[in-house]
Amino acid sequence: MKIYAVKIYPIDEQLFAQLLLCISDDEQERIKKFKKYDDALRGLTSKVLLRYIVSHLLEIQNNSICFGKNEYGKPYLMGVNDFHFNLSHSGDWVVCAVDSLPIGIDVERIHDVDLNLSKRFFAKEEHNYLESLDGYKRMEAFFELWTLKESYIKADGRGLAIPLNSFSFSFDEGNIQFKASDSSEKYYFKQYDIDPSYKLSVCARNTDFPEVITFLAFDELASLAKKYL
Ligand SMILES: CC(C)(COP(=O)(O)OP(=O)(O)OC[C@H]1O[C@@H](n2cnc3c(N)ncnc32)[C@H](O)[C@@H]1OP(=O)(O)O)[C@@H](O)C(=O)NCCC(=O)NCCS
Repeated sequence: MKIYAVKIYPIDEQLFAQLLLCISDDEQERIKKFKKYDDALRGLTSKVLLRYIVSHLLEIQNNSICFGKNEYGKPYLMGVNDFHFNLSHSGDWVVCAVDSLPIGIDVERIHDVDLNLSKRFFAKEEHNYLESLDGYKRMEAFFELWTLKESYIKADGRGLAIPLNSFSFSFDEGNIQFKASDSSEKYYFKQYDIDPSYKLSVCARNTDFPEVITFLAFDELASLAKKYL
């Protein structure tokens, strides 16, 4: 299992155009449809990062890399059964987890949210836990739970088709406890400190979580992409 992270920053039009050439025509069309520059840059960076990882780890030429999507929109690499990945982006960060079994990752910038959301969407015990906290601690805990929940529905692959209150997390002396009524698979979770303003969770079927994330500087990724993709 490997986890990659890239911290993005605005780039000039020329580099943006060069990176666009590293991805497929379909992917380029999707990126060009974004109205906001930040969304386009996050989308482009995640596609470039993924293509770099696939070509580097599996030694596949970029123009032979093809992605499909399951019926819930989870992308997968076509033609390689034991290679699984998942992408997430939020604010300044683009992250990607890869493993030999299905995996899910979620990064979220901690920001002011209506905590009534947890009442509507989270499991009752999760909402009660959040209610027992105040101020920034509650906000942090909300995003801890949110990213754990997203990592699970993304590892499973059904995304939001899984009701967010049908499974729950609790913390026992720092250990993440997971309860789900309808999951026959065993899942494992880990959270990483990537940035004090963000929460990042990974859900995997394997247990060999890396101790550390592989950070790629944005300019390094851009030059690797221009060279190899
Ligand atoms: C798509 C979803 C699976 C994750 O979305 P998200 O957290 O907004 O976005 P992330 O950046 O973490 O992940 C997006 C990536 O997940 C991947 N993805 C899409 N559908 C997926 C699925 N069913 N399973 C796993 N991964 C999926 C894609 O690679 C996508 O990247 P792309 O759009 O650049 O191709 C889905 O859960 C969603 O729409 N969530 C909305 C957030 C929300 O309302 N959460 C409720 C908390 S109260």
